[in-house]
Amino acid sequence: MKTQVCIIGGGPSGLMLSQLLHLKGIDTVVLERQSREYVLGRIRAGVLEHGFAELMREAQCGERMDKEGEIHDGFLIAHGGQVSRVDLHKYSGGSSVVVYGQTELTRDLYAARDRMNGVVIHNAEDVQPHDLKSATPYVTYRSGDEVVRIDCDFVIGADGFHGVSRKSIPRDVLKEYEKVYPFGWLGVLSRTKPVSPELIYAKHERGFALCSLRSQVLSRYYIQVPLTDSVEDWSDDAFWAELKRRLPADVAAQLVTGASIEKSIAPLRSFVAEPMRYGNLFLAGDAAHIVPPTGARGLNSAASDIYYLYHAMLAHYQNGDSTGLDQYSEKALARVWKAQRFSWWMTTMLHTFPDSIAYDQKLQETDLAYLFSSEAAQRSLAENYVGLPF
Ligand code: APR
Ligand code: PHB
Repeated sequence: MKTQVCIIGGGPSGLMLSQLLHLKGIDTVVLERQSREYVLGRIRAGVLEHGFAELMREAQCGERMDKEGEIHDGFLIAHGGQVSRVDLHKYSGGSSVVVYGQTELTRDLYAARDRMNGVVIHNAEDVQPHDLKSATPYVTYRSGDEVVRIDCDFVIGADGFHGVSRKSIPRDVLKEYEKVYPFGWLGVLSRTKPVSPELIYAKHERGFALCSLRSQVLSRYYIQVPLTDSVEDWSDDAFWAELKRRLPADVAAQLVTGASIEKSIAPLRSFVAEPMRYGNLFLAGDAAHIVPPTGARGLNSAASDIYYLYHAMLAHYQNGDSTGLDQYSEKALARVWKAQRFSWWMTTMLHTFPDSIAYDQKLQETDLAYLFSSEAAQRSLAENYVGLPF
């Protein structure tokens, strides 16, 4: 097989890039290790920054998002017995975020790829990139007993944190930066009316909690839990009781509980791999960097990678100009690190750290007190939350 751009990974990053390039006449093949049902069964976060929503529209995938997604102009932070609102619209110069589940977004991207007869190969086993430093790289994968070879100009590593692409960069070239937090988030999805029309991030001495939503009939809640906990330790009743303890009394009184549709624990981690280019391999999204979910930056840091790569590929194929490709790693990492800083800051300010000393707790309280007493601080939060410019 032959293609121009071989994309490893059929998550949001890989599908979005494939769709954008196809619309400009650039041929791609997407190789996904899992089945489509498996990919669409994963429950992920649900806040899209303004720039990502724009990219969905440019990819001609924004129709359902615009119809069913909710525009949020602000969110709430509960702390020290009070609830303060961050006015995103006011402090970001009129911008906002879209609340739309990543699972639905991935479904829309698959539907668009199908409409255009895009090539997405599922259940691709043993995917392996080769000859990445040469002008003629190729990727192999196994389908049953058959090994298939795909020759291409470029390989995109959009295969998430556990993918094969990053591992193909030699150890003496790749530098990894990692911070593991001493807790995870236990998440519950329930077919219940959300407790609040806007997201509530709650700081509480028993641990952080978040009230989020997918629609007016579908709620997503999280509580901070120790890394040693497992889903089996948490019955639905125990989850709801603990969530209520961490919310302000009037919010807890309004909470509608119900059976969980999905329940999972995700550890919190910050990670960046540098460089994001090795020869003709380009890393994008979770393959190169991950953030703790606190600032809702996961998908959104992937968005800027895709934006930069898309424009770099266009300039290369349409004008023979490879400057964008040469600058990709540096440019992408500059924005990636800002998203890292923001998610680390939100995480540090709002969680209960098992080893924190009284001094640390005072600083957390002061961070929040400063935030809500300073328009400049709220402006800074808002501009990061709606997404820094690409
Ligand atoms: N070969 C082929 N595909 C692979 C391989 C492999 N060796 N390893 C992983 N994959 C696939 C995974 O099955 C997954 O579908 O690559 C895809 C990567 O998708 P994601 O993990 O969703 O990563 P990405 O597309 O970069 O999405 C960005 O935003 O909200 C965040 O972390 C969240 O996943 C989300 C991310
Ligand atoms: C979610 O809805 O899953 C969600 C929302 C905001 C976050 C993290 C997760 O910061």
